[in-house]
Amino acid sequence: METFYITTPIYYPSAKLHIGHAYCTTIADAIARFKRLAGYEVFFLTGSDEHGQKIQRTAQAQGKTPLEYVDPIVDGFKELWKLFHISNDDFIRTSEPRHEAVVQEIFKRIRDSGDIYKGEYTGLYCTPCESYWTELQLDEHGCCPDCHRPVEKVSEEAYFFRLSKYADALLKHIEEHPEFIVPTSRRNEMISFIKRGLEDLCISRTSFDWGIPVPDDRRHVIYVWFDAVINYITPLIHNPDMEKFWPADIHLVGKEIVRFHTIIWPAMLMAAGMPLPKQIYGHGWLVTDGDKMSKSKGNVVDPVALVEEFGADAIRYFLLREITLGLDGNFSRDALIQRINADLANDLGNLLHRTLNMIGKFQQKILLPPTEGTDLDKAFRAEAIDTAREYRRLMEAIQLSDAVKLVWKFIGRANKYIDETMPWKLAKDAAQRSELANVLYNLAESLRIVSVLIAPFMPSTAQRIREQLKVPQELRLDDAETFGLLAANHEVGKPEQLFPRILVEK
Ligand code: MSP
Repeated sequence: METFYITTPIYYPSAKLHIGHAYCTTIADAIARFKRLAGYEVFFLTGSDEHGQKIQRTAQAQGKTPLEYVDPIVDGFKELWKLFHISNDDFIRTSEPRHEAVVQEIFKRIRDSGDIYKGEYTGLYCTPCESYWTELQLDEHGCCPDCHRPVEKVSEEAYFFRLSKYADALLKHIEEHPEFIVPTSRRNEMISFIKRGLEDLCISRTSFDWGIPVPDDRRHVIYVWFDAVINYITPLIHNPDMEKFWPADIHLVGKEIVRFHTIIWPAMLMAAGMPLPKQIYGHGWLVTDGDKMSKSKGNVVDPVALVEEFGADAIRYFLLREITLGLDGNFSRDALIQRINADLANDLGNLLHRTLNMIGKFQQKILLPPTEGTDLDKAFRAEAIDTAREYRRLMEAIQLSDAVKLVWKFIGRANKYIDETMPWKLAKDAAQRSELANVLYNLAESLRIVSVLIAPFMPSTAQRIREQLKVPQELRLDDAETFGLLAANHEVGKPEQLFPRILVEK
């Protein structure tokens, strides 16, 4: 069986997660679920990035040890992912012994090969971002170019990673593998970043101790980014059942951390003599009124409250449909409600309800053997299959929002098919019994197909549709590309509302 390995970044437990973080994890989940549907053996990893000075300081300020501080926050992450129906196969905490062992092993391996050396570091450090900057990189106020907060001058003995040595090899790899950094805009940014020259990277600190100790030199802790990226191999290394998943197929990351994933991480892997991941996909940000969500700006949307109000599937649908992967996208409550009412309650909900209702009313819930039917019936069946095939192509190409739109175009077509064939009229005419049976069968089949196609986006809705259709919960993409799998005497269930309409006050 072909394998597929996808990761999200591991999240900082410094602040509450917001809907922007859930966006990143939802995309990864939809891709992982699609790959399972398509028959791949999938490994989907997420986790928490727990070390560093910032966590240590915050914990201290609350009179806690770092672990006492992060434990409940990390439990909250796990709860949130459950709430969002995230199907990760493992969850890495960088504070776990299994991770510490791998980080130390990689550190040693690179030090032994001569690409980690001891020196003196003087530089500018942004504590909230855990990033070092040079004078040239600071913003116009002399602050961190990412978060625009003040940087601190630090000077200490430190270990360095010989990043400069890998500039040419990285450029060559990027040039020879156009799919390595996606989208192209990020690829071009990284190429010019490397061409400006790479400096060796300071990868240890002595000014605090909440981190993984440098092997044989415990005064130093390993720089949090060096530690964090290694999480991607922690569950695989030395595990004979898991090694097959490396190299990863996709590291999905936000655009501001593409640099760490396409320059530092690959150089570390080259130094450790390991193959590079196949692709780093830099997605855009979820913004509110054009501004990146962040706690300090006070524009964050709480994902837990949102799920309680609208349900996870509706939010997943909105995020996957409204935002083109790679570009920034706007989150707005009004737009979410509009989508729920128009696409979910109306288009999908009505299609299911009308179909099951008519099968109940006109055929006592039983599907009757279909015949070839009219030209309209044939065209409708062909459109279902074409949709499933085109969906596979779009999903393989990770064009998630186009795939969602395609499925909804077909749902619209199915609703129109009801209006065109008017089953309530056919039911009044004994001579039209067989055509009525065709139409109802085609509609039930199209819903079965839709339930497969939407499963990566809305897993619980897919399940509910299948319960109402009384088809097995097991999902396979191949089954969406075949029309006519429902048995001729199949009995469907009672229609139940999928999404209530949300009333909006004028
Ligand atoms: N801990 C590092 C990642 C280490 S990976 C080896 C980190 N953590 S983070 O919690 O700050 O961010 C995690 C991810 O969430 C990033 O990919 C980031 O882009 C994403 N997002 C944070 N805010 C976001 C939005 N508003 N919109 C979309 N994604 C957002 O960086």
